[in-house]
Amino acid sequence: MYLIRNANQILTMSDLTLGVRSGVSLLCSDTIIALDQDSVIERLIYEKYRDQPVTVYDAAGCIVMPGFIDSHTHLVFAGSREHEFRMRLTGKTYLEILSAGGGILSSVEATRKAPEDLLLELAKNRLRIMLHYGTTTVEAKSGYGLDLETELKMLRVAKKLSRYQPVDLISTFLGAHALPREYSGNKDKFLSYLLSEVLPAVKSESLADYCDIFCEKGVFEIEETRAYLTQAQKMGFKLKMHADEIHDIGGARLAAELGAVSADHLGAVSDDGIAALCSSGTVAVLLPVTLFYLMSKAYAPARKILDAGVPVAIATDFNPGSSFCESMQTAITLSLLQMKLTPEEALFASTRGGAQALELTDRGEISIGKLSDLLVINADNYLHFAHHIGVNQVKAVFKRGALVFEDSH
Ligand code: NIG
Ligand code: FE
Repeated sequence: MYLIRNANQILTMSDLTLGVRSGVSLLCSDTIIALDQDSVIERLIYEKYRDQPVTVYDAAGCIVMPGFIDSHTHLVFAGSREHEFRMRLTGKTYLEILSAGGGILSSVEATRKAPEDLLLELAKNRLRIMLHYGTTTVEAKSGYGLDLETELKMLRVAKKLSRYQPVDLISTFLGAHALPREYSGNKDKFLSYLLSEVLPAVKSESLADYCDIFCEKGVFEIEETRAYLTQAQKMGFKLKMHADEIHDIGGARLAAELGAVSADHLGAVSDDGIAALCSSGTVAVLLPVTLFYLMSKAYAPARKILDAGVPVAIATDFNPGSSFCESMQTAITLSLLQMKLTPEEALFASTRGGAQALELTDRGEISIGKLSDLLVINADNYLHFAHHIGVNQVKAVFKRGALVFEDSH
C-alpha cells in the first residue's frame, strides 16, 4: 500500500477543470482508498489498515495525475519504414507510397514473416517506452496481417503481453486496414473473406472487443465500410473507424449512424460530420502526432469538435509509418500548439477522454475505488507541465498500486 504525500497538485480529472486538489494525500492499494488530508488518512490507516505495510512516497514539488490512456495504437508489427520516411521528406505522399505497394503493405510483408516470439519482444520493448512516458493503458490494433494466420498471430501477441509487463491492453481487429496484394482488384472478395473466415475466428477466441476499418478514399470507401461494419456489429463487435483522416468522404457521419464507440483521425471532417458525432455521443479520437508526422497542412478542426460538445480523446496512433512515436506527452504538446486545445482539455482528453474512447469506467480519474494507475510528474503545476516540451517529465508511474517505474535522475 502506498501513501503519496506532499504533491503540489493532484489532478483528479473529475471534470474539465481537472478537479485540482492541493494539500491532500492519496492512500492506494490496487485501487484508490482515500484522497484526503494527512490527519484523516493517518486515522484511517490506524483504524483499518494497521496490519498492512504502508510505504510513503514523497511527491513534493510534483503533480500527481492518472496514467495516460492511449486509445489508438498499432502496437504490434515487425520491420521498419525509415526508407519511406526519406521518400516523404522529399515529397512523396503517404497515399502515393501505399498505392505503389509500400506503406502499410510493407509492414504487412514483414509482419507475416515474423515469428510470434519476435513480435512479442518488439511490442514489449515499445510498451516499456510507453510506460516510462506515462501510459498505463493501451489500445492495440491488428491490421498488418490481412490474412487469417497473421491477424490471429498479432492479436494473440497483444493478449499475451499482459503476462510480461504491467500496461493493460485492449485489442481491436483492423483486418480491413489495406487491400493485400493477393486480393488486388478484388476488394469485395477480401471484405467477404474477413467477414466469413477471419472475424468468426477472432470472435471464437475472444481476441478483440472492437472492429475497425481504414475508411478512406482509395482504401475502403463509404459503402464498403457501411456493409462491412454492419455485419461485424451483427457478429457482436463494437465499432471504431479510421474516419475522414485525409479526405472528407462522410466517415464521421457513418460512424455516428452506426453508433461507433469512436471515430478516429478526423483530419478532414466536415461540419456535418461533427454535428452527427455530437448527436450520437461517438468519441472523437484526435491524433495530432500523425498529422505532424505526415506534414499535413490541415489539422483536425479540434476547436470546432470540442465547442460542438463532442467527447474528445487524444492518442498517439503509434505505428511504423504515419506516427512512429510512443509518447502521449508529444501528442499533448501537438494538440496544444497545432490543434489549439487548452491545457485542461488536452490533459483531460489524454486520460478520461481515452477511458471514454475505450469504454473503461474504472480508470482515467483519481477518486475512491478507481484503479491506482498514477503518474508523478516533475512539474509543480499542470500549466508548467504543458509548457515544457520535448522531454520526459514523468518521475514515477504506479500501475494498479505498484511502483513500476521511477526516474533515476
Ligand atoms: O492510423 N491510416 C491508417 N492506418 C494507420 C497508419 C498505419 C501505417 O502507416 O502503418 C494510421 O495512420
Ligand atoms: Fe491508426
